[in-house]
Amino acid sequence: MRLDVVSIFPDYLRPLDLSLPGRAQRNGLLDVRVHDLRDWTGDRHRTVDDTPYGGGAGMVMKPEPWGAALDELLAAPGAAQRPTLVVPTPSGRPFTQAVAAELATREHLVLACGRYEGIDQRVVDEAAGRMEVREVSIGDYVLNGGEVAVLAVVEAVVRLLPGFMGNAESLTEESHAAGLLEYPVYTKPASWRGHEVPEVLLSGDHARIAAWRHEQSVARTAERRPDLLHPARVVATGTELRLA
Ligand code: ADE
Repeated sequence: MRLDVVSIFPDYLRPLDLSLPGRAQRNGLLDVRVHDLRDWTGDRHRTVDDTPYGGGAGMVMKPEPWGAALDELLAAPGAAQRPTLVVPTPSGRPFTQAVAAELATREHLVLACGRYEGIDQRVVDEAAGRMEVREVSIGDYVLNGGEVAVLAVVEAVVRLLPGFMGNAESLTEESHAAGLLEYPVYTKPASWRGHEVPEVLLSGDHARIAAWRHEQSVARTAERRPDLLHPARVVATGTELRLA
């Protein structure tokens, strides 16, 4: 998989050379390139932002450097015919395990790190004519920019690449793989500071263990993430949102 990351803080993406993505690069599964958006500015100050049309607080990232960056990355040797543009933004669709699994099937991702109040919307609108575009949010909170979100997205995607994880079973067992949170896990010693490992896990009875784990997953999900068990279907009807 090829990854092009564009940011005004390329150093922020250094962790991509460490840990999981670093290993994937050394294995040849991943080709990561980090670019400085300011390399596509044309003025002395290397300006990437300007005031918002319509007024309001903060600054908006200008479309021209982004347009030039995408033009060059799409024309570069080794670029896919139609790469996927991932734009992390608090106003994106939720970035879920299912989205990570979908992105893991793509040959070429371009990840655009916004800063300030975001990127001029025309960048995404124009890119949609030549790329698959995914505006994603990693959670209901606001970060200062897309860099940390890109690190999260890349790690979630890369560990799903075929041939990456040593233990493929741990991918199917983990939280969110089946729409449930993972059951609690334990290791030796069986007794620690007065806390015991649940007896069933010492029984060697695989059917009982599987049933216990499933129960624990359901109970944990009901308590911590009831929304995963009973997702309310929200539908848009014109300008109004209602529960279906
Ligand atoms: N950029 C700023 N906040 C973000 C969030 N919550 N998710 C993705 N990108 C972001």
